[in-house]
Amino acid sequence: MKLTLKQKQASLEMIKGEIENCKICKKGKIGRAVPGEGSANAKIVFLGEAPGKTEAETGRPFIGRAGKVLRGLIQDVGLKEDEVFITSPVKYLPKYVTPTEADIKHGFLHLDKQLGIIQPKVVVLMGRVAALAILKRQVEVSKEHGKIIELDERKYLLTYHPAAPLYSPKVKPELVKDFRKIKKLLK
Ligand code: URA
Repeated sequence: MKLTLKQKQASLEMIKGEIENCKICKKGKIGRAVPGEGSANAKIVFLGEAPGKTEAETGRPFIGRAGKVLRGLIQDVGLKEDEVFITSPVKYLPKYVTPTEADIKHGFLHLDKQLGIIQPKVVVLMGRVAALAILKRQVEVSKEHGKIIELDERKYLLTYHPAAPLYSPKVKPELVKDFRKIKKLLK
């Protein structure tokens, strides 16, 4: 069924409420829920890992150092932030920082609903956690990045998490190269 923009926005708000009230999500986590932000009609969704400290303080995704990298990359490929949707499979910052498989499996239930409403053409899987949430397998990002996977009538582009170049600067050109594939995928 094709939803109007208003219906999509209302549905995303409802999911946001579910995330904010989710007792399972909150177990072992810190701070505010970070459900995601952007257009309910986005053709492309960017998927990270879990919120960091700045995100958990504000409730907004990717606004820390990794977010600066991501938002720069989005601009570089000619997309506007308000025409994409940015989120993560895990909606709260885990106390232990790296999400567990159980966190990812549970977070996917919320994410899957969000994707079902937005119905993007392309989902960018940024890093191991995003790949595990969607593809249900462990991926070695350094070996598989740049791959396009077609699944359930959606295209998934696998790349590094935007925090990766902060620790390993040589990754940045690879990330830029992967992001350049986006325009073609959206055509
Ligand atoms: N890293 C993520 O994966 N998601 C965020 O929202 C912020 C940092």
